[in-house]
Order: sequence, then structure tokens, then C-alpha cells
Amino acid sequence: MLGNFSYKNATKLYFGDDSLKYLNEELPKYGKNIQLIYGGGSIKKNGLYDEIIQILKDNGKNVIEDAGVMPNPTVEKLNEGVKLAKENHVDLLLAVGGGSCCDYAKAVSVSVNCDEDPWDKYYIRFEEPTCEIVPVGCILTMAGTGSEMNAGAVITNHEQKLKIGHVFGEEVMPKFSILNPKYTFSLPKRQMVAGIYDIFNHICEQYFSGDDDNTSDYIAEALMKSVIHSSLIAIENPEDYEARSNIMWTATWALNTLISRGKTTDWMVHMIGQSVGAYTDATHGMTLSAVSIPYYRFIMPYGLNKFKRFATEVWGICAEGKTDEQIAEEGLQAMENWMKQIGVALKLSELGVTEDMIDGITEGTLILEGGYKVLSKDEVKQIIKASM
Ligand code: NZQ
Ligand code: ZN
Repeated sequence: MLGNFSYKNATKLYFGDDSLKYLNEELPKYGKNIQLIYGGGSIKKNGLYDEIIQILKDNGKNVIEDAGVMPNPTVEKLNEGVKLAKENHVDLLLAVGGGSCCDYAKAVSVSVNCDEDPWDKYYIRFEEPTCEIVPVGCILTMAGTGSEMNAGAVITNHEQKLKIGHVFGEEVMPKFSILNPKYTFSLPKRQMVAGIYDIFNHICEQYFSGDDDNTSDYIAEALMKSVIHSSLIAIENPEDYEARSNIMWTATWALNTLISRGKTTDWMVHMIGQSVGAYTDATHGMTLSAVSIPYYRFIMPYGLNKFKRFATEVWGICAEGKTDEQIAEEGLQAMENWMKQIGVALKLSELGVTEDMIDGITEGTLILEGGYKVLSKDEVKQIIKASM
């Protein structure tokens, strides 16, 4: 049965190959000082930077440059960004990039007017913002995390070997996000498929839980089918607009809080993946792909009905004459074959994880409830070992 819930999504989206023009509609709503947040330079190479600067100038804005947001943004970079925003009294944090830039902007947004240490407040004590939040806008260049329409912000602390996500309330969601699928054309293939797997796994994390009849699970199946279908087109032709636009839109819906309404969720693949990220700084989607098959194989007996449904509904496995276990296993096998086909990492050793890291990664894995089985630390370790 659907549980009770409230639902609101506070982000206004502009989607399509002409969506950047809507920045002109959004900018007048904010003050003069815009902190322009971007990464390592991909937006300079593909010309997007120049276009955005022109629009900001045309709208009479002061641009405060905040470049160099790295994949898996660090606590040191966060502190720098907060300082910059404080010194310049910024009115809008405009993130241009993937999940890392959007997440970072949100983490800055809740920290600018706050005197406490952001890491301790939000990532150790998991407190909610108690100060005025600076608005965030996002221009997305990589599809995967869903950060463009959610309130998540993941920050990495290499010194403490922790990568932690805080899911804030709706007031922290970007006020607007601009999604032009064409911007994703310049992504290296490895990043594209990492994003695709991230999308797929977000859906899995919300699908593999509960055994009731729940609309969210039907939506999840449709989203999974769409991303599988489009991924196979995009790996052959990365500039197929239809496939890239479907991937981008699916990414948003996979994690904009809709499909988790009224049901429990799992998130253990992400918890292990994040701990792997803290040790290796590996690409987010790859940290998930490397642990997924061993994880799902491990929990399959505890959620057999859903795994059977996953096999028949998502992968079209024929159930005739087979046991439930066989059907479920064939579903996972089909998923693994697809993962091989698109070329995501299937082993942690491919990401630089070595035997001596296993204890630390286990220790750094947050254990959550909500899935078919609450894992013990020993079981987490077993799954990590099976992923090597
Ligand atoms: O820095 P630049 O030069 O821009 O290059 C980036 C970066 O190296 C590159 N890139 C992005 N768009 C490009 C491009 N290169 C060429 N052309 C383009 N159009 O791709 C690299 C990766 O970018 P990044 O933003 O790090 O990737 P992603 O979108 O996967 O974000 C990962 C971060 O988001 C967090 C992850 O943990 C990680 O820190 N997540 C955020 C979530 C959320 N807010 O809800 C949920 C996710 O599960 C995830 O944990
Ligand atoms: Zn993810």
C-alpha cells in the first residue's frame, strides 16, 4: 500500500536545445552578484562559457568566477566557495556542469550565511540549514545524478576518508535548471556511460524495496526500459539527440523524489559506492556499477518476488517452466550483460581499489534500512570482496 506522503518539486525546468535563452527570464529575479560555478574547463572548450558570460553581461550582472570544481567536490573547495560568496555578497549561485557543480552550489548555498563549519554541521551532525539560503540555478552539462532537480549535495573529505551526501529540504533545490541535451554531446564516453549507470542505479535503489502494489514501481520499470533503450543508441551514436534527450530527462525523473514517494528505498549500493569514492576518488557511476551485481545477487533471496518481476517486466525474461530463482537470476544476468555492453566498470579493482582498502571502505559504509535486508558490516565486507 502506498504510504502517506507530501510532494512538491520546487525547481523550474527549461528543457530543450533552445533552453539557454530562458536564463534571460530568470536572471532579472536575482540581484547583481552572480557566482559562476564551473569545473575543470569543459565549458570553455565547447563554447558554453562564452555564451553564458554574454547573457550575464547583457543582463548587467557582476560575475564572480568560481572555477575548478572537481568531480566529487571536496570540503576544501567548499570552504573556498563559501568564502568567495561571503566576500562578494552573492545573490545567485549559478552552477554550470554536472552533479559535482550543482551539488557544490547547494552546499555553498546553505553555508554562506552560516558561521558554523559546513562539514561538521551538514555532513557529520546532519543538521538542517538555520541561516538564509542563497538561491541556486543550474545549467546542466552531464546527465546522471538528478542534482538539477533535487536537494542532494555530496561532499568528499579526503582527510577523513568520507564521502557523504546530505539530502536537504525543498528550499535547497535549484530555483531553476536549464537542460539542453546537446550540451552532453561533448562528454567523453566513459562519463556518458557512468551517468547512464548512475541513472539506472538510482531507479534500482528505489525499486528494490517493498512487496506491495505501488504505482512508483511501475513508473520505475518504465524509466528503466527507457534508459536501457536509449543507452544502446547513445553508445553507437553519442550525438543522437533523441537518445541523449531521453537519457537526460530520465536522469531527472530518476532522482527528483517522485518515485520514492509512498515507499521505502534501499540506497546501499550508493552507500558502498560513496565509501569507495572516498578512498579512490573514482567516477561516481563506476563506483556503483562495480558493486551492483554482487550486491543484488546477495539480497535477491530476500526480495525474490521483486527480482522476478524485474526480470520479466524490465528485461523480458520468459518465465515459463522456470523456478522463481531461475527467473530472478536471468534478470540479473541480463542486467550484467547490458552493463558489459555499455562498458561500465564491473570490478572494484578496475577503479584502483586494493585489498588493504577493504576494511576502511567497509568501515566508511553507512548502513541504511529500507531495503530487503539490513546488512551487517561483515556482509558489507563480503559484498565488497565479491566486487574485487
Ligand atoms: O569539470 P569539467 O571540465 O566540466 O569536466 C567534467 C568532469 O570531469 C566532465 N563533464 C561534464 N560535462 C561535460 C564534461 N566534459 C565534457 N563535456 C561535458 N558536457 O565530466 C566529469 C564529471 O562531472 P561530474 O559533475 O563530477 O559528474 P556527475 O554529474 O556524475 O556528478 C558526480 C557527483 O554528484 C554526486 C556524486 O557523488 C559526485 O560527487 N551525486 C549527487 C547526487 C544528488 N545530488 O542527488 C546523487 C548521486 O547519486 C551522486 O552521489
Ligand atoms: Zn548516484
